[in-house]
Amino acid sequence: MKRFHWLLSTLAALVLVGACGKDNPVPTPPPDPDPTPVIPPEPEPEKDPLALWGLKDLASACGLMIGTEFTYGEYSDDSLKVVMKRDFEAVTFGNEMKNDQIVTNAGQFNFTRADQMVGWAKECELKLFGHTLGWHSQQQNDYLVNKLVAGATDADEAAALVRDFHKKWVDAMVGHFDVYGWDVVNEVFIDSGAWRNKANSQLSNNYHVFFWGDYYPGGPKEFVDTAFRTAREALEREGKSAILYINDYNLEGGWAHGKLEALCQYAEGNPDVTGVGSQMHTSGDLYSPSEMKNMLERMVKTGKKVRISELDVASGKKMSQADIILDVFKQYLDIVPEAQRGGITFWGVSDKNSWLGANKQPLLYNSQYLRKDAYLKLHAYLLERSGLNKK
Ligand code: XIL
Repeated sequence: MKRFHWLLSTLAALVLVGACGKDNPVPTPPPDPDPTPVIPPEPEPEKDPLALWGLKDLASACGLMIGTEFTYGEYSDDSLKVVMKRDFEAVTFGNEMKNDQIVTNAGQFNFTRADQMVGWAKECELKLFGHTLGWHSQQQNDYLVNKLVAGATDADEAAALVRDFHKKWVDAMVGHFDVYGWDVVNEVFIDSGAWRNKANSQLSNNYHVFFWGDYYPGGPKEFVDTAFRTAREALEREGKSAILYINDYNLEGGWAHGKLEALCQYAEGNPDVTGVGSQMHTSGDLYSPSEMKNMLERMVKTGKKVRISELDVASGKKMSQADIILDVFKQYLDIVPEAQRGGITFWGVSDKNSWLGANKQPLLYNSQYLRKDAYLKLHAYLLERSGLNKK
């Protein structure tokens, strides 16, 4: 028994010494597992330039108003509304302020549809441009030709009735709409620079049968002088102000230098003209950067506001759509002094609604309203130029 006690106490002593002995290291516990595994950081949506700024914010920071066009049927599309609000500051209606849409068969003015669109433009916080007070196309020919002219006893009476109706029309339009600018006349020259009339106009289908200039003793020039004077007087009477434009197409095409010169010289000679507009329906086959430069420099020389009024760029082989649109904006910002900038307006939003047909792909958004390469490049260019990304 004594021997057994001795054995137990010796073992206990050994265990104690072993546990507390200096040379026996205490095992280090394993490190705590990291509660947040390392994953690449997500891009912060609020730092994405595309989410931060629409085209209109960037353009405006560059001293440029950017606009677009839409027509009545398009507005049911919610995507259109999103894009209008995000990217554009101004709008032109594609058709709804044209003579044949406002003038009724009885020669009265019906503003219902245009007014509805004015409401939509307000919803999207868009400024409104007026297109157009004078054109040879899309007019109420039924009233003008068949009723007004045919009903007159002789040519003089017909001419007087037409002139009187033109004044009523301009007065009614200027009185009714509040716009920042009007196309007072559209397409009044042919490419050579001659005044357009029924005989020399290549556009002779049913849309182009009535030429106001035929009813003025001094021909088209007297019509255009009268159109500008009437618009200016109507604005004064209404206590309104708007830029009064002479607008035309092909001005950026090298083959229409005659027209460019005629339009600019006319504007220079008439103080009622306060703006010159270039439609710019161009393409990857037609566009020439040097002709663009030539056009802008000539337009700037008039001292009037300079506006690109209906820009679209159909696909073509020589230059990509994105490169052309970039060149248009870059040259416009470089050449047109800020005080003379009347803005750049695209003729439509999505390819699917372009008047040229979706297959020409002339606009900034594809048929699903997704941003195309041209949009992305323009956005990046305006961002860089505005310096907003560095503030
Ligand atoms: C176009 C519209 O976009 C089309 O919907 C319509 O069928 C024809 O007219 N120059 C102009 C614009 O001044 O009014 C034209 O708009 C395009 C050419």
